[in-house]
Amino acid sequence: MSNSFATIQSIAASTFRSTRDNSTTVEKDENGRLVLAGDAFEEASYPKYLPTWDTTEHYEPLTLFEFVDPGTRADPAFPNLLSNDNESLKVKRLTPRFGSEVRGVQLSQLSDAGKDELALLVAQRGVVVFRDQDLADLPVEDALKFSSHFGRNHIHPTSGAPKGFPEVHLVYRSKNDSVYDSFFQEHISSIAWHSDVTYELQPPGTTFLGMLDGPETGGDTIFADSVEAYNRLSPKFREILSGLEVLHSGVAQAQSSRAQGGIVRRDPVETFHPLIRQHPVTKQKAIYVNPQFSRYIKGLKREESDAILNFIYDFISKSADIQVRASWEPKTVVVWDNRRTLHSALLDWASGERRHAFRLTPQAERPTEDWDEAKKNAKEEIN
Ligand code: SIN
Repeated sequence: MSNSFATIQSIAASTFRSTRDNSTTVEKDENGRLVLAGDAFEEASYPKYLPTWDTTEHYEPLTLFEFVDPGTRADPAFPNLLSNDNESLKVKRLTPRFGSEVRGVQLSQLSDAGKDELALLVAQRGVVVFRDQDLADLPVEDALKFSSHFGRNHIHPTSGAPKGFPEVHLVYRSKNDSVYDSFFQEHISSIAWHSDVTYELQPPGTTFLGMLDGPETGGDTIFADSVEAYNRLSPKFREILSGLEVLHSGVAQAQSSRAQGGIVRRDPVETFHPLIRQHPVTKQKAIYVNPQFSRYIKGLKREESDAILNFIYDFISKSADIQVRASWEPKTVVVWDNRRTLHSALLDWASGERRHAFRLTPQAERPTEDWDEAKKNAKEEIN
């Protein structure tokens, strides 16, 4: 059976959320799983990472788990990750405060101490672009074992996943599709700033996106620094934001998946998180809202809440001086700290090239505005 609901959620969840790409078709395999139709499997560089949608999968709500950020254990001199003895190491700061590019380090070869240092580096720089990685060449199980060092691998509620590995989130735009034309018939910009799955009680921290196939030029990912965004605010305005909580919702994403004939693996959740979040390792504070999943500020009237949230979105999206652009090369893996960044993929190529990427999304702690305060309160509760 061929069915053209196309972009489904693998693309929809991340990049082209509201787009229907009628030129990508899916069909049912012998187990009733939805798979890409046509010649997608022959032509992809990594067929094992092509998306499938298992309509029979259903998971119970996620439960809380204990999380200790690996960055808390890291040696801040980075002797295992950025060793002075590594002659091929090249580290470049992409902007003074935000974003780095590293060459000469193979993520898959890192020791546990090296992985701890990676968590620290990514927390400090917000986003780090690693070139020439072999993570995609490993068996998928091994890639997931690698990312599990950074937290429990998240299972996305709606996105396509490699057969048998729902913990891998896939981004997929097929070859020769018509997304570019159809999208820009209805929109003037493809920018869709978000942080990933912030509706979860424990949203992701250190997050990995590896490019499998991509256009020669185009399809970059842009990142915004929500720590620097916080620092730019006046002390008075920070005080106004302090203590506020925002509802993050996964309902619209699930509805959109259902409407397009896609899957919903887990019932959608809605969670209140603090508007200002403190990083457990760097102790920096960041603004923690995004236009994709944040809905309103608790206790404010809707117009008041909208005014504050829209001010924040407008200022972050306009501020190129707190942003960085990651361009993809074959075998690039970009690692970001989802707690202190927003990102958006760019839909700017119409050359018919496939864009196919895999995301490993370890979950981190439950967001907290002030760790000292939280510890004090916990102690008082025990006493
Ligand atoms: C994502 O939103 O996690 C993926 C971003 C991208 O496709 O560049």
